[in-house]
Amino acid sequence: MAILKIARMGHPVLLQHAEQVENPGAPEIRQLVSDMIETMIDATGAGLAAPQVHVSKRIFVFRVNANRATGDAEDRPVGNTVVINPEIELLGEDVRLRWEGCLSIPGLRAAVPRAWRIRYKGVDCDNQPVGGEVTGFHAGVVQHEYDHLDGIMYPMRMTDFSQFGFNEELARVAAEQAAAIQAAAEQTGTR
Ligand code: NI
Repeated sequence: MAILKIARMGHPVLLQHAEQVENPGAPEIRQLVSDMIETMIDATGAGLAAPQVHVSKRIFVFRVNANRATGDAEDRPVGNTVVINPEIELLGEDVRLRWEGCLSIPGLRAAVPRAWRIRYKGVDCDNQPVGGEVTGFHAGVVQHEYDHLDGIMYPMRMTDFSQFGFNEELARVAAEQAAAIQAAAEQTGTR
């Protein structure tokens, strides 16, 4: 087990089209997947794609923590999951702006348009099928990680750059807005 170095935006490996994995059960692939999960957890990320750890192969790992799942029937919490050689299909016309960050773009987040519902499939290290039809956060993280395999970073998907900023600034604005709402509610209450 090892924590891997994460490539940051600007490194050319993040712009490459990653290669198919010939043998998902190979010992070096199992080791890579194990290290990617450890790295994702260490960095408190929701997902990590192999190109982000300087390996241009079609592999990503992700998880849906309970506090991130939208509560939609097809967006339940999911433990650490590996997807090798994925295929993805965007379903329907429902596209929503959802906040996301990326371990290769540390400190920033943005509202990115993503399909609400997708179908995806791939295999794990035992060549067992993984995937299904999912929505919400699960659908968003899979679209984000899949994009990494095609050399696409989330800013390349953005349409509204006014919703792009540093985590600390955005959190401060949100806290100020919440305080203003609270103050207004208290003022109303004293009448
Ligand atoms: Ni990312």
